[in-house]
Amino acid sequence: MKSYHLTTFGCQMNEHDSERMKGMLESLGYHEAGSREEANLILFNTCSIRESADSRFIGHLGEAKRLKSEDPSRVVGVGGCWSQSMKERVFDQFPFVDVAFGPGQVNRLAEFLTSDSITAQGYFEFEGFTGHLPMRRAREFQAWVQISVGCNCVCSYCIVPSTRGREVSRPADELVAEVERLAADGVREVTLLGQNVNSYGRDLPKGHKATFAELLAKVDAVEGIERLRYTSPHPKDMREDVIRAHAELPSLCEHIHLPLQSGSSRVLKAMRRTYDRERYLDRVRMIRDIVPDCSITTDIIVGFPGETEHEFEATLEVVEEVRYDSAFTFVFSPRRGTAAAELPEQLPHAVKRPRMERLVDAVQRIAAERSQRFVGRTMEVLVEGPSRTDPERLRGRIRHNKTVNFARDVARSAEPGRLVDVPIASATSTTLAGKQRERMETDAKDSASMRNPSTDAKDSASMRADPSAVA
Ligand code: SAH
Ligand code: SF4
Ligand code: F3S
Repeated sequence: MKSYHLTTFGCQMNEHDSERMKGMLESLGYHEAGSREEANLILFNTCSIRESADSRFIGHLGEAKRLKSEDPSRVVGVGGCWSQSMKERVFDQFPFVDVAFGPGQVNRLAEFLTSDSITAQGYFEFEGFTGHLPMRRAREFQAWVQISVGCNCVCSYCIVPSTRGREVSRPADELVAEVERLAADGVREVTLLGQNVNSYGRDLPKGHKATFAELLAKVDAVEGIERLRYTSPHPKDMREDVIRAHAELPSLCEHIHLPLQSGSSRVLKAMRRTYDRERYLDRVRMIRDIVPDCSITTDIIVGFPGETEHEFEATLEVVEEVRYDSAFTFVFSPRRGTAAAELPEQLPHAVKRPRMERLVDAVQRIAAERSQRFVGRTMEVLVEGPSRTDPERLRGRIRHNKTVNFARDVARSAEPGRLVDVPIASATSTTLAGKQRERMETDAKDSASMRNPSTDAKDSASMRADPSAVA
């Protein structure tokens, strides 16, 4: 039997594409090998978002080269965004690579493997969504659903538009049918994926148009889906109907990831983000107003070319004003083919580093303070597995997307995939700690029937927020 080994880099899009690659390979009779040495097919699903992503991958590719020289019958395949952005050079620079394909061409891997081609092949077209591949999910109760591919934005620092092509939305009825299949297969939490999820639907043909808010409502209505998430929305397309959906749709979680990138309107303009600081803060105020307890998280880039000390401080001010529950922070990295890489005022590391440290300090302090609002409340936790640090304890996530480590109730088993109630005893910037509450464990059916139709998600969240509800 043939075996494969797949290493995935990058974002959830790639994680999801890898699940589809695995499903496809298994339908071709491949099984997953425990290590690269044991595999006939060595695969990488790559990312090129920052230079660090490239260099990490190149290190791994070196091992594949060595293994291929030991056994030339091994096949080396490279998919994903790095591959797409290197399409002209990949076979020249890395002649041991047998097959290379972009993110839009995952399906072509099967074509290559089932042909008797002995020469290197590259597949780099953009074709929209690459059809219905079987997928092997990492966890049976959680699934990603790709609602659109590509990105029509032109953020000046970003390589993604060139690696994933123009935005193409999948029809809403097709997506709902996919979610229904997933729910029937045991999925309880769905995350909708797109580079810009909330511009969804604008490209659909007349008669099939749907807004992102309408899609959310349709997915929420699918029986068995307890939790609905999405990533990433763009602040320019964050409309009131979507924010209201968080208050109205029972499954839509109290968490919005709203990438800021910079708090300076001048820098935002140079980034071609098409919103300014005020417009961003206005969206945040609307979220706070309509969904007061919502977690807000973000992405921030430090050291964009020409960023002054004053402009960096504008980012710190927005961080203090919004009070994020967490933030991914990145040092600007010039990417091949992007406009920002060509800007003259590239900042030295000696400027970028200390700014990053100051930003991380602020983000962590505020995140730790924000976490304290959960202490004393009983939170609904979707169990994901054993705690990473203490196998005696369990780990899961609350609707607000914070990780919780908790002691299991000895009398009851809390299997991965179940919803349990956990009173929160303490909190740090990244995790909460608690103990599973006796007899309050619920499974999908219990919690659905416990849900009073007259109370929406917001009521039930605020009911749990009542300290008197804590056992
Ligand atoms: N489509 C998503 C995210 C794409 S990449 C969105 O727009 O929100 C994830 C994050 O990586 C971005 O939000 C940005 O903060 C960061 N990023 C992208 N390109 C970068 C670069 N050249 N240097 C540093 N960070 C970058
Ligand atoms: Fe990149 Fe901007 Fe598109 Fe996000 S919205 S993928 S940052 S171009
Ligand atoms: Fe994702 Fe990296 Fe591509 S972040 S879209 S895999 S460049």
